[in-house]
This record gives sequence, C-alpha cells and structure tokens, in this order.
Amino acid sequence: MQHKILVTYFSASGVTARAAKEIASSVGADIQEIVPAAPYSAADLNWMDKSSRTTKESKDETCRPPIAADIDIKPYDTIFIGFPVWWYKEPAIIDTFLESANFAGKRVIPFATSGGSGIDGAEKRMKKLCPSADWVKGKLVNHGAGAWAKGAAE
Ligand SMILES: Cc1cc2nc3c(=O)[nH]c(=O)nc-3n(C[C@H](O)[C@H](O)[C@H](O)COP(=O)(O)O)c2cc1C
Repeated sequence: MQHKILVTYFSASGVTARAAKEIASSVGADIQEIVPAAPYSAADLNWMDKSSRTTKESKDETCRPPIAADIDIKPYDTIFIGFPVWWYKEPAIIDTFLESANFAGKRVIPFATSGGSGIDGAEKRMKKLCPSADWVKGKLVNHGAGAWAKGAAE
C-alpha cells in the first residue's frame, strides 16, 4: 500500500530538524515544522536554571505552549513526530500538538534526538495522551534516521 506520509517536528537548536529532513527525503514524505507561537530563547533553553521557561514547562504536566500555525494532518495516514528529549521526555509543545489534531486511526511514529537519554519515557507519555493513534515503536535518531524510517513507514 502506498502511504501518504507527513514528517512533523519541533526543534529548538536544529538537530532534530536535520533528522526530520533526512527522514522526509528517505521516505518521500511532506514535512512540516511545529513552530512555537513564542520562540524559545537561549535563556528559555537553559536547563541549569531552575526558573527557566523549559524547566518550568517540564515540571507542569498541564502546560501546553501554543503552536504558531495549525498543521493539517487529515490528508495523511502516517505521521512521524520528531522532537528533542527535554528532561527525559517530550517537550510540552509536542503534547499541544497531540491534543490539537485528530490522530484516530493514523499511524504515528515518534523519533527524537538527545544528549544520550532514550525515547521510551516520551513514548509512554505520548501514547497515554493520544490513545486513539496507531502507535509504531519510535527511535532515538542521534546516529542517523533514514534507514530506520524507511522500515518503520513500510
Ligand atoms: C531544556 C533542555 C532539556 C534537555 N534535557 C535532556 C535530557 O533529559 N536528556 C538528554 O539526553 N538530553 C537533553 N537535552 C539535550 C537535547 O535533547 C539535545 O541537545 C537535542 O538533540 C536538541 O535537539 P534540537 O537541536 O532539535 O532542539 C536537553 C536540552 C534542553 C534545551
């Protein structure tokens, strides 16, 4: 079966963006960035600062930072969702995205980049937030994504 595939991603410093582009070209997908309505500044991204925006967001389970523009997932049956691991889980804006669209019956494939932490914690939380999706095991793509993505999207 020919899948219509969309690669979506959030990336604060460009690493996940590179992986997303590699996946999109490897599987022949459209690509759309999840852009925060309020961009993350360098100070926002400081995980050493207990009062930085990202530290506060990661501690607040209900935090849902708005996305700048809606992403229309309707035309697609398979959706990759990429993100950097923040505090061992997905950034809160990924939760916004999961709750902002109807993923029922869609194949959803997570991927992430990190400084070394795995993707499992994020995957568990994402499945819980969006149980109607048909979840495919995701992958940490710190060391290349193209070959894996091809298999995952088959
Ligand atoms: C606020 C914040 C929290 C982070 N938490 C983790 C973490 O828990 N584990 C980890 O391995 N890396 C962590 N990182 C590192 C990022 O996951 C890593 O640099 C990622 O590749 C950045 O992707 P990006 O360039 O697409 O934003 C964190 C980075 C930031 C800014």
